[in-house]
Amino acid sequence: MTPLKIGMIGLGTVGGGVAKILTQHPDRIERRAQRPIVLQRVAVRDLTKKRDVDLPAEILTDRVQDVIDDPEIDVAVQLIGGTGQAREIMLALLAAGKDVVTANKALLCEHGDELFTRARELGRSIAFEASVAGGIPIIAAFGSALAGNQITSLSGILNGTSNFILTEMADKNQTYEQALRRAQELGYAEADPAMDVDGTDAAQKLVLLSQLAFGVRAAVAEFPCSGIDTLTLEDLKCAADLGYMVKLLAVARLVDNLLEMHVSPTLVRNNLPMADVQGVFNAVKVTGDVVGETWFSGQGAGQLPTASAVLADIVDMAVGRSQLTFPTLDLFGGRTTFSVQPTD
Ligand code: NAP
Ligand code: HSE
Repeated sequence: MTPLKIGMIGLGTVGGGVAKILTQHPDRIERRAQRPIVLQRVAVRDLTKKRDVDLPAEILTDRVQDVIDDPEIDVAVQLIGGTGQAREIMLALLAAGKDVVTANKALLCEHGDELFTRARELGRSIAFEASVAGGIPIIAAFGSALAGNQITSLSGILNGTSNFILTEMADKNQTYEQALRRAQELGYAEADPAMDVDGTDAAQKLVLLSQLAFGVRAAVAEFPCSGIDTLTLEDLKCAADLGYMVKLLAVARLVDNLLEMHVSPTLVRNNLPMADVQGVFNAVKVTGDVVGETWFSGQGAGQLPTASAVLADIVDMAVGRSQLTFPTLDLFGGRTTFSVQPTD
């Protein structure tokens, strides 16, 4: 079978995980992809950096253009953060005729309209399973498995770093600063962890899920969003004394035919399943009019769980099962205005 040649941009936490799986389990991936997957080129910023994955030196480059210009590369796996350079690189990859896999939710949240429109015009695909909830196949669930439903609500823990910090503080008496440092060491946090702890990262993921579930394109600035960065150990102890845990919940639900969205630290009663979601785990409760209530949970950040989601997209691309664009359900007749008042 003709191999699928991929070019990767970024070999950090997530890129390193993808490279490890591709090099350690080529047979497994080939079976699922029905052809060999060849890592043809990998672009990084700093060629001298020590890596925890062994790749032939000749495939590494510090020129992204080497991936863009390589006519043999069919699929580009873009695993760098940020929205400026990442946008330019994604547009150049699409223009060069490549399908793109990405884990960058900030990029899709901010520039998704432009990027998916461009991909559609060029007949290219953008796949983004790893952009929301790490290893949990939540994009696939909204894209296909729940297709027969009108989703009525989704709520959950969408930021692994925040949940890890809350768990470390509540269970291990760690300070906020100690817990955040550990989340950074473990590769859970964003390069700028402010986005994790102020609720922005969870809000960006909520925007992407809401577009898939409700066909509504919201901007993070349009709904209330607060994070865990102002919580103290005292707050968590107080909640525990009353029989609650504090969780950073992201919620989108239909209320009287309007969509209500918010991200905020929330008191969750100890005996509820959401209170059991510990450490870097994420969980999403989805209610559909046909299926009823369903739960998705798993590791929401970190090297291998996120790489697992990227690999799923690469395999989908290899077998021609990739996602071309966001569905346009047009639930609100083209309007993108919605209620924004938290009602909890
Ligand atoms: P990271 O560890 O900081 O890695 C970023 C990689 O991008 C590095 O290898 C860096 O090169 C490379 N890079 C940056 N700018 C570049 C440029 N201009 N040209 C070439 N290479 C460049 O980040 P990460 O944690 O893997 O995250 C990557 C993306 O995945 C982000 O959008 C993040 O939000 C998303 N994500 C992360 C996780 C997670 O658990 N970490 C989970 C889901 C989604 P050097 O190594 O040479 O510096
Ligand atoms: N920084 C993100 C988190 C990575 O902690 O959830 C996964 O998107």
